[in-house]
Amino acid sequence: MPLDTPILTRRIPTPPFGDPAERKYIPYYRYVETDGYASLDQAVGMEPKAVIDIVKASELRGRGGAGFPAGVKWGFLPPEDGKRRYLAINADESEPATFKDRMLMDFDPHLVIEGIAICMHACRLDTAYFYIRGEYHHQRDMMLKAIAEAYGNGIFGPGSRMGQINGRDPELHLHRGAGAYICGEETGLLESLEGKRGWPRIKPPFPAVAGAFGRPTIINNVETLAYVPLILQHGADWFKGYGKGRAEGAPPTVPASFGTKLFGISGPVKKPGVYEENLGIPMSELIERLGGGMRDGRKYKAAIPGGISMGVLDREQYDAPLDFDIGKKYACLGLGTACVTVIPEDFSMVSVARNVARFFSHESCGQCTPCREGTNWMYKMLSRIEQGDGTTKDLDLLLELSGSMGSMPGTTICGLADGANWAIRTIVNKFWDEFEAAVVHRGRVSLAVLGAA
Ligand SMILES: Cc1cc2nc3c(=O)[nH]c(=O)nc-3n(C[C@H](O)[C@H](O)[C@H](O)COP(=O)(O)O)c2cc1C
Ligand code: SF4
Repeated sequence: MPLDTPILTRRIPTPPFGDPAERKYIPYYRYVETDGYASLDQAVGMEPKAVIDIVKASELRGRGGAGFPAGVKWGFLPPEDGKRRYLAINADESEPATFKDRMLMDFDPHLVIEGIAICMHACRLDTAYFYIRGEYHHQRDMMLKAIAEAYGNGIFGPGSRMGQINGRDPELHLHRGAGAYICGEETGLLESLEGKRGWPRIKPPFPAVAGAFGRPTIINNVETLAYVPLILQHGADWFKGYGKGRAEGAPPTVPASFGTKLFGISGPVKKPGVYEENLGIPMSELIERLGGGMRDGRKYKAAIPGGISMGVLDREQYDAPLDFDIGKKYACLGLGTACVTVIPEDFSMVSVARNVARFFSHESCGQCTPCREGTNWMYKMLSRIEQGDGTTKDLDLLLELSGSMGSMPGTTICGLADGANWAIRTIVNKFWDEFEAAVVHRGRVSLAVLGAA
């Protein structure tokens, strides 16, 4: 059932509930007038563990891409020892075609900051770093403005309404990245935060045990934290009234897809943008009802569900429900960031794959040989195929190569290689006829093969 009232976007006019032209920055006083920081006051009056229990009970899953349950992650922290403990907020948002966190930072940054403060109280984290994508200049300004307002109104610093945490006044600092995709990977982010090259770390140890500066650290996405004040305010059961529950017969240990989510739509649709909807909305409905359908008479051919590392959905998968189970059911990696990129019929999937491989080859940090060399070879082979110099053997090699790289096959440190692997494998497998035709006809693929005739 379509969402009947905005939740996360309550203060950000968003279709079909509001007109984006009316969006503006919500300052501290306006945020407070609309119940802002009441959830923080509520949390501060509670035992920290009780706050974690509510987040756990809500089954809120991370909105940064991996979908790990936030409350479970918070529960991994070791007991306090009086030394510093950190929160790192992942505002890197560097996955191509992903632009949902940006909307929260632009217009309702106090919602994010309130979530940060509640997390700090619940997990006993005294120092928070807001790690923001280097290219996000305006968002940086909005966040700095909101952080200054939060300090000025007793959220952080001496006399904080949270009191001292680990014997320290709670602090929130903004840290700018320098424009590397890999710094969105949580341990690459920590290295960058420490002033080093953003090279992901081997895990374990996981950041909750040994993270920033070797100390326990929670890392959460902007949108994940923005949901926390709302869950505190309305309760776990309220949250579970939205989205999609567990599949019938699934044990309670299997996480479901509860809640609403910010969905992005880009590509040749009439109304690209960010929309809030229930998790589980069919992709066709997102494209047609919210995105206004295809533009200029073009037809849907494929879509990337949430960042190119997730792979593609093909023509027959147009109605796929956008929930955390999408990977298993539709042969892609997962929901990712839920920012959908639509690919029209007159686009060559060989060119799409070549472009995707170019991105991963450029962004690989180079630590692991299968990723450093593999992404580059995929790019070379796909360029060759696109130019008409490929052979059928190249296609087999491409699939063999992509299937062997990643942290899931156990050959690399981080998930960037898994993303490259799934993106290329699913494009080639699901659009095999186009790749075969490109090889047979030396790069010239007819509109009939593309599906656009
Ligand atoms: C290559 C790579 C890039 C990533 N980029 C981002 C990013 O830009 N933003 C983000 O929130 N998570 C990103 N992630 C996921 C993070 O590693 C991590 O799972 C997430 O920040 C945890 O927060 P969450 O549990 O609230 O989703 C990336 C992961 C990988 C492997
Ligand atoms: S998988 Fe790729 S990006 Fe990740 S650590 Fe290894 S080389 Fe770097």
